[in-house]
Amino acid sequence: PTTTTAKEKGGRRSAGELGKSSSRQMVDLKPPRGTRDFFPEEMRLRTWLFDKFRHVSWVYGFEEVDFPVLESEQLYTRKAGEEITTQLYNFEDKGGRRVSLRPELTPSLSRLVLQKGKALQLPTKWCAIGQCWRYERTTRGRRREHYQWNMDIVGVSSMEAEAEVISAIVDLFKLVGLTSEDVYIKVSNRKLLQSLIGTLGVADDLFPQVCVCVDKLGKVPREALCKELVGLGVTQDVSETIVGLVAEGTFEDYERALSPQEGGGEPEVLREIKELLEILRARGIEDWVEFDGSIVRGLAYYSGTVFEAFDREGELRAICGGGRYDHLLSTFGGTDQPMVGFGFGDAVIVELLKQKGLLPELSPEIDDIVVALDPALQRYTGQVAGKLRSLGRRVDVVLEQKKMKWVFKHGDRTNARRLIILGQEEWERGVVKVRNLAEREETEILVDDLI
Ligand code: HAM
Repeated sequence: PTTTTAKEKGGRRSAGELGKSSSRQMVDLKPPRGTRDFFPEEMRLRTWLFDKFRHVSWVYGFEEVDFPVLESEQLYTRKAGEEITTQLYNFEDKGGRRVSLRPELTPSLSRLVLQKGKALQLPTKWCAIGQCWRYERTTRGRRREHYQWNMDIVGVSSMEAEAEVISAIVDLFKLVGLTSEDVYIKVSNRKLLQSLIGTLGVADDLFPQVCVCVDKLGKVPREALCKELVGLGVTQDVSETIVGLVAEGTFEDYERALSPQEGGGEPEVLREIKELLEILRARGIEDWVEFDGSIVRGLAYYSGTVFEAFDREGELRAICGGGRYDHLLSTFGGTDQPMVGFGFGDAVIVELLKQKGLLPELSPEIDDIVVALDPALQRYTGQVAGKLRSLGRRVDVVLEQKKMKWVFKHGDRTNARRLIILGQEEWERGVVKVRNLAEREETEILVDDLI
């Protein structure tokens, strides 16, 4: 037997059905915890910041690349105990493949480098801006999604590559109004720790785990760190020496602690650090950088120089971080290439600029508002707007009949410069009224002469 549906009865629903739909529970309007919505206000700021990122990348001659937010999980399943690998938004897709939202851009960028293989002209300089996902405990400046600006150089072993990307960070800081009194970049080199553990007799294959562990310095008590190192197979004494030196060691302390190279020469890592600082001095940015042996970085793939930028007051988390990672490609089964780069988040920098009063006031920017006084002229508003738009002006059309009071208010809200008013009598003469909103002056202009 067929039943008659509400639709068949004329599309009307019974009172009961209506009641049901209107009592449906409202969906949660908040975005998932730790994630953000970008209303126009926030979007204006984001665009402003990304424009600065892109500008710096552009003046450094970097090319922009992009890749999917969803990647194969195996790009991130590294075994050194990094926090990032425990924070994956990972799952099995409908085809049974293990996938993950990207927590960072470096593995994707490396995948692209490997895809190109020998066809890639080296050196290659790539930048990217992308959303990254990490299931973090959310705190100030730390979220479950953030955007990262990356600049990476592939194929350069010399310290000039490090100097180039560090200079780019400094230029970004300058561009947003920060000085070397506000922020600085702490620089170190992973090989310090590597040489140190070598000198202390710790097996070299423990190095990535030791780095990941030591990076927690300042976040967990020293005793806990030592315990973790002992758990990796390092003796108590050696653990204490490592943690003590990383926490407080000056450059001179490292010079004393590291054994000279065969032949009595200065250890390579000390030479590398000095060389980088010298290049940065030659570039005139020595005020922005400082050696700091406690910078180790929490990602296992770094193999040489490491750096992080901080606010001088030490209130915020790292603004950005990066380094050299010459051996990542082989962990993906490819041929290694020297690689250097950084990731610069969109969160901490905005916090800092807010604190310093350096956030720009960004308002909507409309050039012209086109309005018809007469309903019969409504259809011509688009024609007038089209002419102005083709000249590159930003034009908002009032799409429905509105009172002039509303139009003026709307002009205020959108910072419009002019009102283009279509009135019956003027239209018949082929002219429109053009009102300059700042000067409150009105003139008549032939539609054909509008600019
Ligand atoms: P990272 O230190 O994990 O490095 O992240 C780089 C930057 O991204 C941080 O300094 C911070 O600005 C931002 N960031 C990271 N996690 C969050 C979060 N949960 N909320 C807000 N901002 C965050 C990397 O990701 C490396 N792949 C960078 C790199 C590129 N190294 C070489 N090339």
